[in-house]
Amino acid sequence: MSFSTLILAAGMGTRMKSSRPKVIHTVCGKPLTMWVIDASKAAGADKVCAVVGHCADMVKETLGGACEYALQAEQKGTGHAVMQAMNFIKSADGEIVILNGDTPLVTAGAIKDAVEYHRTSGNKATVITAILPDATGYGRIVRGAEGGVKKIVEQKNATDEEKKINEVNSGMYVFDAQSLAYALTKLTPNNAQGEYYLTDTLEILLAAGENVGGYAIADNDEIRGINDRVQLYEAEKIMRRRINEKHMREGVTIRDIDSVCIEDGVTIGADTEIDGCVTIKSGTVIGEGCYIGGTTTVDNSEICDGAHILSSVILNSKIGKNTNVGPFAYVRPNCVVGDNVKVGDFVEVKNSTIGDGTKISHLTYIGDSDVGERVNFGCGTVTCNYDGKKKFRTTIGDDCFIGCNTNLVSPVSVGDGAYIAAGSTITDDIPDNALAIARERQVNKNTWKDKRGE
Ligand code: UD1
Ligand code: CA
Repeated sequence: MSFSTLILAAGMGTRMKSSRPKVIHTVCGKPLTMWVIDASKAAGADKVCAVVGHCADMVKETLGGACEYALQAEQKGTGHAVMQAMNFIKSADGEIVILNGDTPLVTAGAIKDAVEYHRTSGNKATVITAILPDATGYGRIVRGAEGGVKKIVEQKNATDEEKKINEVNSGMYVFDAQSLAYALTKLTPNNAQGEYYLTDTLEILLAAGENVGGYAIADNDEIRGINDRVQLYEAEKIMRRRINEKHMREGVTIRDIDSVCIEDGVTIGADTEIDGCVTIKSGTVIGEGCYIGGTTTVDNSEICDGAHILSSVILNSKIGKNTNVGPFAYVRPNCVVGDNVKVGDFVEVKNSTIGDGTKISHLTYIGDSDVGERVNFGCGTVTCNYDGKKKFRTTIGDDCFIGCNTNLVSPVSVGDGAYIAAGSTITDDIPDNALAIARERQVNKNTWKDKRGE
């Protein structure tokens, strides 16, 4: 049997003090609601729908095709939000799991366990609860004599006695879909706030003689809702630890768990060491025995076995085996750097292929170029790939020696085994094995100072 998930994500998120809606702020690089969607899917949800409202278009654009959407044009409470997804609920197979778009730490395991508990208990509604040392702000779970859930009271509507209850409503539930649809039709805004409370559906189902239960979550962190930037930071810390510990258990050395941010969807081989202030963004695959250190960002790139990366930025590119990058290198999108290559300090490479064994040691810009194997670049080489209107490619064969301070004015090609004299500005193709010198001859004026009267 399957279930569907409904995620409430229409709220304002005023306390974020942001021009962007809260639910698309990110934890470890992924929007809050996307974490919830992914956890739902990993738990086995076959359909996911998000209720959007505040900045609905921006939220939909960010989440894209990850889920279906229902629109809550005006925010009139959690019950009202769920009502907007009536078609989704009525057409669901099995249960509806309700989650919040601002609780990114909820795991697939907890969702699965709650659904399992709901089924074996024969409930029509199960509220996921947590026992908190400080329950302030949350709806309190009022249990009946036999231990079943009787109702949920909001903080602002609670009596002093009820305020002492430390079992709280996480805001997450499992409902039998048709029972939920029925209860929603009975829901009224009978509170001072004039809001439709989703929590009232529990009493409606109890009155109809149905079973309602509570499932206490094992890890309280999973229900953490994010309301402001401080809570966003706390969630980031927890998520970072979860991700990093997972990699560590798989054989990756991480020197400082708090300074390394690895996004979801990253693969790292055993015996790779990550040291320093490193950000590894999703889509990245890192091989075995690599070193990534200093202040480094790697985004959506492949780093092959044994590569050494220090204080550099690598975007949408491939770095070959045992290749050395940095310190202070910038590998921009669409580069394929071969094995045993050196991309040294203050080197920028863009949209280029670099053959195996090539050394680009320092202060060099290689853009829109195809470079062969075992080429040696002297310090300060520049490919002049842009004439102000169009970009052109530079082609360099195998085993070339590019002298220091060479400018290669593209389109231009350098043959295999060619040499370029230092200080040359190359505008014409160079045949294989030739030496190109493209600079003024030096003149020494031996008596110049005398003539000047010095
Ligand atoms: C709700 C629960 C409370 C629980 C708490 C857990 C109710 C009446 N109360 O309270 O028992 O302890 O969550 O965090 O349900 N939302 C909409 N549309 C709306 C209103 C809210 O989409 O019209 C969304 C919000 O964006 C948020 C979620 O629903 O993701 C919860 O709303 P919020 O206003 O934070 O509920 P609480 O008052 O905290
Ligand atoms: Ca130069």
